[in-house]
Amino acid sequence: MLAVIGAMKEEVDSLAAGMTVADQQVHAGIDVIRGDFAGVELVLAQCGIGKVNATICTQMLIDLYRPRALIFSGVAGGLLPNMRIGDVVIVSHLIQYDMDLTAFGRRHGELPGKDRMIESDPALVQKAAAAFDAAFPDPAAGPSLMLGTVVSGDRFVQDPDKLRWLQREFAALATEMEGAAVGYTCELNGVPFVVIRALSDTASETASSDFAANLHTVCENSFRVLERLIPDVGARAADGRPAPTSRACPAPSAAPR
Ligand code: ADE
Repeated sequence: MLAVIGAMKEEVDSLAAGMTVADQQVHAGIDVIRGDFAGVELVLAQCGIGKVNATICTQMLIDLYRPRALIFSGVAGGLLPNMRIGDVVIVSHLIQYDMDLTAFGRRHGELPGKDRMIESDPALVQKAAAAFDAAFPDPAAGPSLMLGTVVSGDRFVQDPDKLRWLQREFAALATEMEGAAVGYTCELNGVPFVVIRALSDTASETASSDFAANLHTVCENSFRVLERLIPDVGARAADGRPAPTSRACPAPSAAPR
């Protein structure tokens, strides 16, 4: 079983349309579709916007469905000057940028006893990059791919000063509102994860109107990566064992991963 999360309807619609649905349920107010995509058993949830919603959704999916890997797919605001709308970021590291214990001498994003960087599963990052290459084989025609750090906070960034700070403080490529919460929850549960984001805006003055204008089209770019990644991650070896991820999962409980 794989789990996929998107925050908004537009971020889950294409995948939902391609699934053969076994059942639909609502848990903690979150719509969850269980079924099959390209022969892979899948659970898909729309978590809603922000880190609290993302945390609740991720923990709920892990507890109820025991996924052996989790993928978040959606959009983000790009932080670098040369980025284009629709470019894709495969997230290697995430930081919760609005975690602020600087009053106690800690760096922005840092919690006691934790590294401020939350690392995606390296094998899933590589598989997602390969899925991008397969989805967009002509580098001159399609979006660009970047791998790197993305920051998450409970704020839609529409501010050149804030975007410059995010870029310089965290060396981040993009900003969004869920990824670090999903990653943190997966990390605590030992579930391998990766986050895929397509750029809907550049987090500056026109971000909210750019976001609204581009949301639908750029979601298609992350979906094109997702539709190739899912069969790869869901593939089983000849002996029937699941394809490897980099991290060991905790011992399975009630349901198979
Ligand atoms: N998601 C997409 N664009 C964003 C932005 N500018 N800030 C936060 N989250 C986003």
